[in-house]
Amino acid sequence: MRLQDRVCLITGAGKGIGAAAAKVFAMEGAFVEIGDVDKDSAQRTAEAIQSANGQAAWQQVDVTDEDSVATWKQQVLEKHKHVDVLFNNAGISAVGVLHEVSRELWDRVLAVNLTGVYLVSKAFIPVMMKQHRGVIINMSSCIAESGLLRRAAYAATKGAVLSMTKSMQVDYAPYGIRVNALLPGTILTPFVEDYLQHSYDDPSAALAQLKQRQLGGELGTPEDVAYAALYLASDESKYVLGSGLVVDGGVTAGKPF
Ligand SMILES: NC(=O)c1ccc[n+]([C@@H]2O[C@H](COP(=O)([O-])OP(=O)(O)OC[C@H]3O[C@@H](n4cnc5c(N)ncnc54)[C@H](O)[C@@H]3O)[C@@H](O)[C@H]2O)c1
Repeated sequence: MRLQDRVCLITGAGKGIGAAAAKVFAMEGAFVEIGDVDKDSAQRTAEAIQSANGQAAWQQVDVTDEDSVATWKQQVLEKHKHVDVLFNNAGISAVGVLHEVSRELWDRVLAVNLTGVYLVSKAFIPVMMKQHRGVIINMSSCIAESGLLRRAAYAATKGAVLSMTKSMQVDYAPYGIRVNALLPGTILTPFVEDYLQHSYDDPSAALAQLKQRQLGGELGTPEDVAYAALYLASDESKYVLGSGLVVDGGVTAGKPF
């Protein structure tokens, strides 16, 4: 199996892409440590994995809170003594033209999507440096490379994550740590369902518009991204360093008309 007995930490694995990645990683033999601010969904993902005879544990973790991350680190290390993979996946959306984005929403989206990646990485990188081995996957988005209506604040976080990934890779390559980013397009998860419902007068018209941005037909599934994460987590990608892997149905490749 591709991740046999590897200790894989995934933030935001209660739902959506993170939950799909947790299940796929566990199917490939990993022990998945799920950290999510929503403890019910974290527990649900862990139980689903355990009932399929996979290895998983969960912890309520807020990636914006250094103490919460420190507690998670302590628990994970007491149990496993090492960490193989960190998937910084947790994120929230922020919809609105920039001048209408409240200061509160701006601060929140930066805190979760960018500072969260910093805080969790800061906690676990010293462990990986000591081991001289590790894989970090940071969740960016195809919006880092191509603009989208009413997403400037969110795009700022995902562009920053992509840039940060490349510089992290330069710093940590000498320690045997690979750092890559994922750039998904529109993936039908609770995150997208939620902003379709709350940000548009006509959610089904908005959904049709989102599909038209792609070269492929349907929106992506959480599993489409989970399998890309599996590749980056496994040794199959041992020569992939500091990259941004695009999984977007062709959104950034070209325009359909
Ligand atoms: N769905 C998409 O179309 C899409 C596209 C590109 C990138 N992304 C990114 O992928 C990641 C996952 O998105 P998703 O669509 O699966 O979202 P989702 O809302 O379905 O799941 C996100 C999970 O993160 C958790 N979370 C939120 N804030 C947290 C915090 N402070 N600490 C810990 N956990 C927290 C939530 O509880 C939830 O379980 C996000 O970073 C998102 O920006 C999503």
